[in-house]
Amino acid sequence: MALSFFLKEKKGILARCRDDYATKMRLKYAPYYHAMEYQQGSTIKLDGREMIMLSSNDYLGLSFHPKVIEAGKAALTKWGTSTTGARPANGSRAYHVQLEEKLAAFLGREACHIHAAGYLSCLSSVASFAQKGDVVYADKNIHSCLWDGIRLSMATVERFSHNSPDDLRNVIAATQSDAPKMLVVEGVYSMEGHIARLPELLNIADENSLFSVVDDAHGFGVLGRQGRGTVDHHGVNDRVDVICGSMSKSLASTGGFVAASREVIEYLRSHSKQTIFSAAISPAQAGCAEASLDLMQSEPQHLERLWANTRKYRSILKGLGLDLWGSETPAVPIVLGSKERVYPFWRALMEKGVFTVMSIAPAVPAGKDLIRTAVSAMHTDEQLEKIGEAMAYAMRKL
Ligand SMILES: Cc1ncc(COP(=O)(O)O)c(C=O)c1O
Repeated sequence: MALSFFLKEKKGILARCRDDYATKMRLKYAPYYHAMEYQQGSTIKLDGREMIMLSSNDYLGLSFHPKVIEAGKAALTKWGTSTTGARPANGSRAYHVQLEEKLAAFLGREACHIHAAGYLSCLSSVASFAQKGDVVYADKNIHSCLWDGIRLSMATVERFSHNSPDDLRNVIAATQSDAPKMLVVEGVYSMEGHIARLPELLNIADENSLFSVVDDAHGFGVLGRQGRGTVDHHGVNDRVDVICGSMSKSLASTGGFVAASREVIEYLRSHSKQTIFSAAISPAQAGCAEASLDLMQSEPQHLERLWANTRKYRSILKGLGLDLWGSETPAVPIVLGSKERVYPFWRALMEKGVFTVMSIAPAVPAGKDLIRTAVSAMHTDEQLEKIGEAMAYAMRKL
């Protein structure tokens, strides 16, 4: 009896996998999981065709910088391939501490902790500190890793309208509580390219004693002095409790970081399951990130080129009359409003040799179905021109 019940349940899950509508559609239209055969900077090869990469998060274009590649190789040679363990156990190395100290100093924080993925860092920036009974005020458009952090914390969540201090104020007023409270926002919103209205949001946070967490995965390297991020851009460093982010974007590696006061980071090290029970970031990953961080400070030309490209790219798209959702940063969405419009647009870009990513509801709010594009310091003028021509062609396909 018990065995047949188990088998039935197992088959139920297998049937779910087999019959899943989202998976069937994904396999039919094949918009995701394209394995490129070659990459050199912002040029890739897919199915034998050369294409321009227009959806990478390599904002500063450091992923092919000789010093970054050299640092990765040197770290591999010195430390081997992996720590094969978590930080509290056998996984801590001097290179972790070195990168954490550099990141903390760069961000004007007392301490920092790094993880093997930005997802882990950002998730644990919420889940380690909020608890059942607390209230988390979250911007409606935050990244999946932050929602997962909220869910794991078991705190009560109250959503407020995207980047709206007025709505945050209203939601707080409607949910008065003496419980510990947290504000969770992104610095730069990954899909929208919007910059968080931190000064106003933090005024409300201060008035209501909210602990603030800013996921700056897309602001780090892009905004602020030498790319210190959104908090620096707004000059509010002393008012934000936790800055977290990813190393898979401007730092041209993989991994993530959480930067805060020493007591907050030490608390995370005691309580974050993602920190305690997951292997430490590998030597090559950390080596590449550290080299990129050094380059952000010694070679300003990458940040300058990024913004020159961003201005040029945005003016091309605006000239075509495309809806960019008011993006203010190198993360530039092209809002088309429905999956029926997004798909042919995306296909036309692929046909013309421009690689982008479709993002459709529910990954984005209904009616905001979009093509996510991101410009990099690596794009050449010639590539930007080709992209403009491809966009004009895709518009004719709508
Ligand atoms: C806002 C934001 N936070 C966190 C992450 C997770 O970073 P990673 O890809 O390094 O795990 C991402 C990645 O897309 C992101 O966009």
